[in-house]
Amino acid sequence: MQFRTVSTTPYTDQKPGTSGLRKRVPAFRQPHYLENFVQSVFDTVAAPPGATLVLGGDGRYYNREAIQVILKMAAANGFGRVLLGRSGILSTPAASCVIRKYQTHGGIILSASHNPGGPDGDFGIKYNTANGGPAPEKITEAIFAASRKIAQYRIADAPDVALDTSGDTMLGDMTVSVTDPVSDYAELMESLFDFGAIRKLLSGGFRIKFEAMHAVTGPYAREIFVNRLGAPEDSVMNAVPLPDFGGGHPDPNLTYAHELVEALYGSNAPDFGAASDGDGDRNMILGRHFFVTPSDSLAILAANAHQVPGYQQGLAGIARSMPTSAAADRVAATLNIPCYETPTGWKFFGNLMDAGKVTLCGEESFGTGSDHIREKDGLWAVLFWLNILAARRQSVEAIVREHWARFGRNVYSRHDYEGIPTDAANGVMRLLHERFAELQACTEQGRGGAQFGHLQVRLCDDFSYTDPVDGSVSTGQGIRILFVDGSRIVFRLSGTGTEGATLRLYLESYEPDVSKHHLDAQQALATLISIALEISELRQRTGRERPTVIT
Ligand code: G1P
Ligand code: ZN
Repeated sequence: MQFRTVSTTPYTDQKPGTSGLRKRVPAFRQPHYLENFVQSVFDTVAAPPGATLVLGGDGRYYNREAIQVILKMAAANGFGRVLLGRSGILSTPAASCVIRKYQTHGGIILSASHNPGGPDGDFGIKYNTANGGPAPEKITEAIFAASRKIAQYRIADAPDVALDTSGDTMLGDMTVSVTDPVSDYAELMESLFDFGAIRKLLSGGFRIKFEAMHAVTGPYAREIFVNRLGAPEDSVMNAVPLPDFGGGHPDPNLTYAHELVEALYGSNAPDFGAASDGDGDRNMILGRHFFVTPSDSLAILAANAHQVPGYQQGLAGIARSMPTSAAADRVAATLNIPCYETPTGWKFFGNLMDAGKVTLCGEESFGTGSDHIREKDGLWAVLFWLNILAARRQSVEAIVREHWARFGRNVYSRHDYEGIPTDAANGVMRLLHERFAELQACTEQGRGGAQFGHLQVRLCDDFSYTDPVDGSVSTGQGIRILFVDGSRIVFRLSGTGTEGATLRLYLESYEPDVSKHHLDAQQALATLISIALEISELRQRTGRERPTVIT
């Protein structure tokens, strides 16, 4: 086998975002673009000779081509083995599971998560470390630094590897083990949840619909729900992964998972509905004619964890990202366990889980997970819900309403303004910064924050976080306007988009009064929404009358 060293010049835009490097497919197809980034990863992680690497992706357009390149580069960079999901498929949670189970040096996951795919769609690449979790910022920054000064990469001159047949093949001295992408993951799920009880629930007439959105979870959902839990075949919708996700936007929310939403809000609706995203780490939970916000879902899983075999021994703690509602904090207080507030992005949970400080983690962006792996996990969340439903024998809506009655309701919504000009988005954020002083202090009285109707500002800041495990500090993580009564408005710029800027506006208020729990969230948050629009001049500055997506 011949190894070649190829001269190259750096690209300046290979900075990993919230979750790896994401670009349009044509960007990845520029000469040496993929190779430069992969070599920068290999140079940074410096795996010992003979190390094992996990490799797979969500099956999107360019997945198979990228895998061939990465295999040849791994061989030329001294890896001893690559564990490759058959047909190049591995969901993000399954990759995390495999990295941990086989104690590999790390893994490369090819995905742009919930972003659309196709020849002009998005592609992405992320590196996960030996704990199975996304590389922490100090590694992603080092990868970026390496990409800025790269001069050469190493690659094997070899024929393509057959991706669709299980078994070992050699690429020089490196073994490529093509393995079933589902079985290790399905086995882990069986070890955590009461499959017997869920099987009984499903055979007793409880009907479920899982929307795989033509993305990676199709084969996983089929194996788990149909083969192992006995659900009817048609319980899994759009189960065949397609390189362009059938032209859809594989993001499990009320806007993009509309086929599922129509089924769950229609007549003769199933009892339970769920969806996952492109790479299988997100989840949306629906009951019959009922939507569970991801923030509530995290709180409800925590409050009911004692019903689930894998969590019966109790929770060490809970962590949520800053923009996620404080519903989980209330459960943590009742359970007398700590609740950590981290910046957005799953990578901030890794240290807390590795140190045994938290068991459950969640984000408002349809991400929920636990220390069983080091990624959020869509199907895990669905199984957790099904286990609770099997144990409690109540409807989804009844479980949520009982939860609100006990803990109060953290009314919550997120408004996304997608694809706006970067300058306008930055202008909004700058203006908010400039207004901190006037919002926080009423000059006449010299104390107290600005008053908007019955709401008074308590504090404004740009969220920063000191990791309690390694002491690393992350600043500039989102503008918070906190009110005296516990309501809050948060503004953040997305770190995962590839076109223009996406401005996210997060809104939350607390409602202890059960007689008001039936209110629609947009109605209940109307005052906060108008305050947010007023102080940010968002409409004037972006020219947008309404958000692109409301969740
Ligand atoms: C978004 C979500 C964030 C999540 C990330 C990856 O990032 O908001 O919670 O961790 O996708 O799935 P953002 O685009 O907001 O930076
Ligand atoms: Zn994802």
